[in-house]
Amino acid sequence: MIEDNNISALNIVLEIKDLNKSFGDNHVLNGFNMKLHQGENLVIMGKSGSGKSVMIKCLVGLMEADSGLISVMHNDITTLTQEALDILRADIGFLFQGSALYDSMTVRENLEFPLRRHTNKFGNDMNTEKLVIEALENVGLAHAIDLMPSELSGGMKRRVALARTLILQPKIILYDEPTSGLDPITAKEIIILMQDIQKKYGTSSLIITHDVDCARVISDRMILLIDGIDYATGTFTELSTLQDPKIKAFFKQ
Ligand SMILES: Nc1ncnc2c1ncn2[C@@H]1O[C@H](COP(=O)(O)OP(=O)(O)O)[C@@H](O)[C@H]1O
Ligand SMILES: [Mg+2]
Repeated sequence: MIEDNNISALNIVLEIKDLNKSFGDNHVLNGFNMKLHQGENLVIMGKSGSGKSVMIKCLVGLMEADSGLISVMHNDITTLTQEALDILRADIGFLFQGSALYDSMTVRENLEFPLRRHTNKFGNDMNTEKLVIEALENVGLAHAIDLMPSELSGGMKRRVALARTLILQPKIILYDEPTSGLDPITAKEIIILMQDIQKKYGTSSLIITHDVDCARVISDRMILLIDGIDYATGTFTELSTLQDPKIKAFFKQ
């Protein structure tokens, strides 16, 4: 296929080139590549332990890659100053695997936390209360504002975590296993929420999952992470009909 690089390059909001990361003899990423386009839902699927979380942690700077290029909105992140990085970070929401709420803080305090860290985004006169309520309304949980995380169900925790990600109105959202640990009905609700948010804000999303149903419903395009590389790229339909045994293993239920 011939790609029109001049047009598509303008729309790339996130790019990884030749990413390598090892832990001793454990070579987790061996030259992984990906491009996320504006407004796209890109799913990266890989089996457990294949390096999905490692990849996303390198992307957000929680882990240092051994080598490779990572660029966010056409900025090579290794060349940016701390200040420029902080500004970029406020445009990237990260929904951690699990929910990672602060157990000792109320829902409201959990949502206020990112606002305090990124004061530059909304300026000094930001209306914290309004932003918190709006973010909770987006996930249907305005009534839970004063509850503690221990008072929430698994699905509600995931929603609050999503609201905390949304509160900074990110241009890009990274989801690490958004449906893991949830029952199928709650998982479906979270997927619908993700779709609603994408429609409402036009965000670009990178979704890491091993949940085939989630991938089928939400992906515009998929990358299979196998053997530390971007082993195959295509739509769900394209990939699920390939005959390669390594690829077929993902799709047989
Ligand atoms: N901080 C770490 N130190 C050593 N090994 C790690 C670390 N983080 C991840 N790994 C290893 O990297 C591999 C990929 O892990 P991970 O990215 O968490 O997998 P998954 O695809 O399930 O998210 C695993 O073999 C894991 O043991
Ligand atoms: Mg993981």
